[in-house]
Amino acid sequence: MTNKLFVKYIKKLVMRKKHLYIETYGCQMNVNDSDRIFTMMEAINYLPTDNPAKADMILMNTCSVRGGAEEKVYRRLLNLKVFKNANKKLIIGVGGCVAQQEGEALQKKFRWLDLVFGTHNLHRLPDMVLAAENGQHCCETSFVDNEQRLDLFPSFDGGNRLSSFVTVIQGCDNFCSYCIVPYVRGREVSRRSEEILNEVRQLAANGVQEIILLGQNVNSYGKDRQGEPSFAQLIRLVDNVDGIKRIRFVTSHPKDMSDELIACYAEVKSLSGQAHLPAQAGSNHVLALMNRGYTREDYLCKIKALKAVRPDIAITGDMIIGFPGETDQDFEDTLSLIQEVRFTDLFYFAYSARPGTKAAEFTDDLSEAQKQLRLEKLQKLQKMITLEISKSFIGTVQTVMVEGAGRNPGQISGKADNGRTVNFDGDFKLKGQFVDVRIIDAFQNSLLGELIS
Ligand code: SAH
Ligand code: SF4
Ligand code: F3S
Repeated sequence: MTNKLFVKYIKKLVMRKKHLYIETYGCQMNVNDSDRIFTMMEAINYLPTDNPAKADMILMNTCSVRGGAEEKVYRRLLNLKVFKNANKKLIIGVGGCVAQQEGEALQKKFRWLDLVFGTHNLHRLPDMVLAAENGQHCCETSFVDNEQRLDLFPSFDGGNRLSSFVTVIQGCDNFCSYCIVPYVRGREVSRRSEEILNEVRQLAANGVQEIILLGQNVNSYGKDRQGEPSFAQLIRLVDNVDGIKRIRFVTSHPKDMSDELIACYAEVKSLSGQAHLPAQAGSNHVLALMNRGYTREDYLCKIKALKAVRPDIAITGDMIIGFPGETDQDFEDTLSLIQEVRFTDLFYFAYSARPGTKAAEFTDDLSEAQKQLRLEKLQKLQKMITLEISKSFIGTVQTVMVEGAGRNPGQISGKADNGRTVNFDGDFKLKGQFVDVRIIDAFQNSLLGELIS
């Protein structure tokens, strides 16, 4: 070893480990991005911490999907200033969708902010952090087209995880009229299937059994790249990886739920019996204004086809209430769609106008109070359906992947194939195993079972 190398080696040995705290908001894309950030930052000497007061760097990975999510970021930044005042060397950065949307304007608003990094710039972060350590303020929000940003994947965290996200596609080309995602995440770019499969193999080798394929619109996977498989083919390739026992995916667009993909539900045993298929509205008038690209009838047709190949399939979805121009009748159509589909679970949101979107030009004609009333009505209906579906499981036997401790002492817990959480008495040693459990009681958000030996 030369002298120079030796000095470098000693410096590395004695270099104090620094700590990184990340606050993650929004969807699973951000959760996955935060995992990637942790991995990259470890390479430059930052270890994860869950205590912001102990951190040398605090990053916020932000969401901009509704006005409320964006405002939360500004409120939180005001709080974080306190940490900065206490420790001048602390680096504070904002990434994700609000960073992409606002760019330099964020640093104009919060002059002490060290870093602003957009959704396409994660791979630039190590350089930006090194610059920030030298007192520079950096902002990177350009959309870049390179494999490097797609192929970053989180390192495995030590063998504890049974389930892991794997990003297959980034961005969205759909431009639903209300949605800011295409503006903050850019156009659809699929990852190379070989890269995806490498990641899956690596996860499987480390004990991961469930893969959740991730993207804003997973079922348009491969369309932007010649020679790559379709999404349905990709599912079959993942299914072939040794050790992978369950596959899920989020999120898919109803218009891209192809026959080929529906056939996977019949033929690929490891494909989970839960499909998240956001409808957004039940009225053709609103669906057209939303630019969703399907009608209520098209949507119901896909649901029928899914139920034909997997009669016990659990359908979950998203709904937006109070879209500009939504009449009483439109809202009733949404309620009747919910009744027809019988979603096992539903995420519902009051419409929020987003800057730069088509719908932001429409007149947002419903008051917040009206939206609230409709939300409450929808919530009441959905809660009733969810509970009815839960109760229908009583007496059935569900195969559960044991994930960890249950709700009460002595209990363990896991997810059934349909995505439902099941708690039951059992030994923690069963973690990672697939066991059969008879359901004996049902609640709104979970099932109670007993282990069949
Ligand atoms: N890519 C996914 C989800 C994107 S955002 C998809 O297409 O399904 C998650 C959910 O937020 C959407 O499904 C939608 O229900 C909701 N959402 C998006 N923009 C919104 C807005 N402007 N106001 C209210 N809800 C919105
Ligand atoms: Fe937004 Fe529509 Fe794309 Fe989903 S499909 S991310 S709702 S534009
Ligand atoms: Fe939010 Fe961005 Fe996801 S806007 S929902 S974090 S893609």
